[in-house]
Amino acid sequence: MNSGPDIPAKTIRDEAARRRTFAVISHPDAGKSTLTEALALHARAIGQAGAVHGKAGRRSTVSDWMKMEQDRGISISSAALQFEYRDTVINLVDTPGHSDFSEDTYRVLSSVDSAVMLVDAAKGMEAQTMKLFEVCRHRGIPIITVINKWDRPGLDALALMDEIVQKTGLTPTPLDWPVGQSGDFRGVLDRQSGQYIKYTRTDGGATIAGEETFDPAAAEDLEGEAWTTAVDESDLLDLEEQNFDRESFLAGRTTPVMFASAVQNFGVHAILDALVDIAPEALARLDRDGNPRPVDAPFSGFVFKVQAGMDSNHRDRLAYIRVCSGVFERGMVATHATTGKPFATKYAQQVFGRGREVVDTAFPGDIVGLVNATALRVGDSLYLDEKVQFPEIPTFSPEHFMVIRAKDSSKYKQFRRGIEQLDHEGVVQVLRSDLRGDQAPVLGAVGPMQFEVAEDRMVNEFNAPVKLETLAYTIARRTTPECVPTLARERSVEVLSRSDGELLALFSDRWRLQGVEKAHPELVLEPLVVS
Ligand code: G4P
Repeated sequence: MNSGPDIPAKTIRDEAARRRTFAVISHPDAGKSTLTEALALHARAIGQAGAVHGKAGRRSTVSDWMKMEQDRGISISSAALQFEYRDTVINLVDTPGHSDFSEDTYRVLSSVDSAVMLVDAAKGMEAQTMKLFEVCRHRGIPIITVINKWDRPGLDALALMDEIVQKTGLTPTPLDWPVGQSGDFRGVLDRQSGQYIKYTRTDGGATIAGEETFDPAAAEDLEGEAWTTAVDESDLLDLEEQNFDRESFLAGRTTPVMFASAVQNFGVHAILDALVDIAPEALARLDRDGNPRPVDAPFSGFVFKVQAGMDSNHRDRLAYIRVCSGVFERGMVATHATTGKPFATKYAQQVFGRGREVVDTAFPGDIVGLVNATALRVGDSLYLDEKVQFPEIPTFSPEHFMVIRAKDSSKYKQFRRGIEQLDHEGVVQVLRSDLRGDQAPVLGAVGPMQFEVAEDRMVNEFNAPVKLETLAYTIARRTTPECVPTLARERSVEVLSRSDGELLALFSDRWRLQGVEKAHPELVLEPLVVS
């Protein structure tokens, strides 16, 4: 039978143990691209800073994939970057960086084992950071907090710790503590060793920042009050028992904190060390029934993202899978759990934006892009030998709704094909009703930019120009067929069905929803929550 490559189980376990698969969660502008670049630079995956990072008109970027993204200088899509550091394989899964929220962002988090929460020292916990944090908490993903931009005047370090407690409920357990206030970043007090790590700038951050270690006496001579303040504040954290504890970190009760300046490469080294030393390795993943799939079981993985139109000269469709067990080998024929059909993995790539490399072998924790994967949907599982289905990746509650129509009725066939594909990929949720008919389905999205992506693809990929019209609904609730007649009589309420069979009742706002709930307490109106 098709048992996959002949690699001993111990090798697979060892490889899984040296994998760290994580994502950076942050609010736009907190420095995620800069940090990504700095991490890769430190790990010497790329020769010079700037190869990964990018904003429009600045430097070329490899994580942007659509022209629209280039125009705006943002990254809408997700991919993964792999590099080695201290004999550990680090998989950094990219999360979309725009303030507009899309389902992609949530889905990406189903593929990681830990997250780095990047916080701008001057802004503290911002809106999108909080949303992403909630998803991580819900999924039980351990979080390392990095306070970035310490080189710039910002909030007080202790005040930032208070904000973390208040907004997240997690106890911050700083691994290091800044020497010098924000705006005067000299180095850090390593709270494990008590030593001073002094950072030195290098030109333009293009090379790795200098680091020198001093014992406390030398540190005091060197930095005077900045050092003693750091020591006093660290002692205060001691008293509050805000010291690192791996068990409570992995359990999602505490978050180790580090201070950095991504743009100067300060603290980047320490972040990589933390990933290696404390972040979880690729462990057995639970299947749909809650049973763990051991990492050394035959190959299995699940699709967490489907993407198309990466390259206008090369219209392909990529399905990103996270390897959960066994060895993935290019060319292997796995089974698609949903259909039971064979799936050939002839074209497998490791993808980070445009820089593609063919992948030959991948282990648990790795991310692989499968080309021409039209049969695969988000949440689908692939396996060898022993069947497994990983939990479905939930869809989220849309908050924006638009009617979509073909501009040109002679293009209806293309229109239908495009809508079907966007639905399939989960770019938007497609909602229908008999009343509206097939010519004018409703698109639901978590963030309005999903509509722009949908429109762009309808025009450029499916050759079906569209008209979009905003609907004044902001809330969706799951309902049942029995409730439809009652809901249909209410004004500013509409029931539509989603392609997965769910019936969604849409309301203009929460007051309208509350009004209907009060008038008809018997109705089933359940929130569509992150699960
Ligand atoms: P994002 O991906 O999270 O959206 O943020 P990005 O890395 O693009 O950084 C946003 C801005 O913040 C950039 O400035 C970047 O240089 C700056 N930045 C990132 N990390 C640090 C840091 O540690 N310290 C300071 N002082 N700035 C930081 P920009 O003005 O948009 O671009 P640029 O032309 O200055 O690079």
